Amino acid sequence: MCGIMGYIGNRPATPVLLDGLRRLEYRGYDSAGVAVLNGGTIEVRKVAGKLARLAELLERAPVDGVVGIGHTRWATHGEPSDGNAHPHADCTGRVVVIHNGIIENFLELKDELQGRGHRFRSDTDTEVLAHLIEEAFHGDLAKAVAQAVAKARGAYALVVLSADAPDEIVAVRMISPLIVGLGQDETLLASDIPALLPYTRDVVIIEDGEMAVITRAGVALSRIGGDPVVREPTRITWDAAAAEKGGYEHFMLKEIHEQPRALQETLMARLPSDREIALDGVAIAPDAARALTKVWLVACGTAYHAGLVGRILLERLAQIPAEADLGSEFRYREPIVGRHALAVAISQSGETADTIAAAREAQVRGARLLAVANVVGSTLAREAADVLYTRAGPEIAVCSTKAYLTQLVALAMLAMHLGHARGVLGRARVAGLIRSLRALPAHAQAALELEPEVVRLAERLHHVEDVFFIGRGLDYPVAMEGSLKLKEISYVHSEALAGGELKHGTLALVTPGVVVVALATQPELVDKTVSNIQQVRARGAEVIGLGTADTAAALGPHVDTLFTVPATDPLLAPVLSVIPLQLFAYHVARLRGNDVDQPRNLAKSVTVE
Ligand code: G6P
Repeated sequence: MCGIMGYIGNRPATPVLLDGLRRLEYRGYDSAGVAVLNGGTIEVRKVAGKLARLAELLERAPVDGVVGIGHTRWATHGEPSDGNAHPHADCTGRVVVIHNGIIENFLELKDELQGRGHRFRSDTDTEVLAHLIEEAFHGDLAKAVAQAVAKARGAYALVVLSADAPDEIVAVRMISPLIVGLGQDETLLASDIPALLPYTRDVVIIEDGEMAVITRAGVALSRIGGDPVVREPTRITWDAAAAEKGGYEHFMLKEIHEQPRALQETLMARLPSDREIALDGVAIAPDAARALTKVWLVACGTAYHAGLVGRILLERLAQIPAEADLGSEFRYREPIVGRHALAVAISQSGETADTIAAAREAQVRGARLLAVANVVGSTLAREAADVLYTRAGPEIAVCSTKAYLTQLVALAMLAMHLGHARGVLGRARVAGLIRSLRALPAHAQAALELEPEVVRLAERLHHVEDVFFIGRGLDYPVAMEGSLKLKEISYVHSEALAGGELKHGTLALVTPGVVVVALATQPELVDKTVSNIQQVRARGAEVIGLGTADTAAALGPHVDTLFTVPATDPLLAPVLSVIPLQLFAYHVARLRGNDVDQPRNLAKSVTVE
């Protein structure tokens, strides 16, 4: 996820680009750059780091011109560096591109292009597009862009500027967002509406598979390489702050709703066929996978809950003994790790001090370190031998949602990859799981559609004082995550319990008025959870049940309110069952008037021990 900006008009382009990028910085902030048409040539300024560094560079080395494009980067391929910052140029420097998204087949394309003599200057997937356009350009930029993108697979938004087509900017959209702003004798492009609002409120949203050619006079839309498209502009009535949240009241809600896309991007290119799991950044040879004797998952907070799910997936799918430990505790138990151990450090930020300390301890004690991280080039990612990036995009709300879902699928793919390499996971099982993984984005979308029902529940229960979450097997870590979400932002006291543990103490707290959320997504455990439900109902608790389409019939008769997420492979159910729990925590917090995105006493990235 990156921020894209384009301008063609009569005023100096650089300040417009910088201002737009500033408003898009929440989309990514590891490097930034601009390219401006100046006379007959294109000048590029780009630098790693926050946008302020680009502004400094532009002060030292200004660029003049009234046509330009700009980018703030959130790395997916290639570390954040000056060279990997966008824009990227072709061999001649007469074509420059900026891009948001992923080109799945870029390695193949890069090989072919290098074979034909193209020189690459970055490690990015983006640069292949500049060279493909260079080859296809014979005077018609739109045609060249269409020919180039016909060769690329993936999800992206692409913006192209050529010194030989000085009165236009060409853009295409495949899944990643792109919006045109229509001004007076000037036209803009941006990956989100807030960047356009200082200049215009009339926007045209580019749809998937469309190309936009912008000139000072406006925009010409077409299907990529095909027929023209006519679309009336939309008038935006939101203010800039609301627009940054995509019209949602809080970043947390926006991020909850971004989950289908975050899942899709995390899975992308990693399941190339029904048989293969291709994990870029993970280079554990089959021999090393077979030799593994133990996996240690270390993490904090929500990422630890992902680790608890990962532990079960690794044992079930890869048949490796696995243990999940808190980053803050791991060091103090003097763990017996050994040479054939794999440590998996899970962290959205890659900067959590306790997780880093645990990861280092595991390495010192002989483990190979694999990071599951969301921020490219973060400390954990740099220190690990293998990195599996989650590609959730920047997460702004302190309360983690989309990063967690992507951690779950990353761990599922890792478990499958190791299971396959160790020869313990049959082909049919791999194919079935791959099909289930591919269906998850659509299933997550369906789970989000429970929101109106969740809102009704939150409206009725937001004054509640105690909530218990129970679950068995894979439902237990999800219960822990549901409970943490509620505590973090709504400040409602809550606890999660393995269903079977209720009778060993906590049942004493269950009295009329207490709310129990019971998860039962695992078909073989529903009956056992139903027994626990009966224990709490007998003591006057109100029970909210959460199951899948496969378990709902068995669960439904025993609960007061039932939420049903789509059926999926039971090992993947945690990806879906957490969604109504995130929504419940969010709406309870909102109705209580809390600062949802920045809960009291908490921070997004905890860099102290
Ligand atoms: C903080 C955040 C949590 C997060 C945890 C671990 O406590 O508030 O949402 O789960 O840190 O963060 P990490 O970046 O390592 O995933």
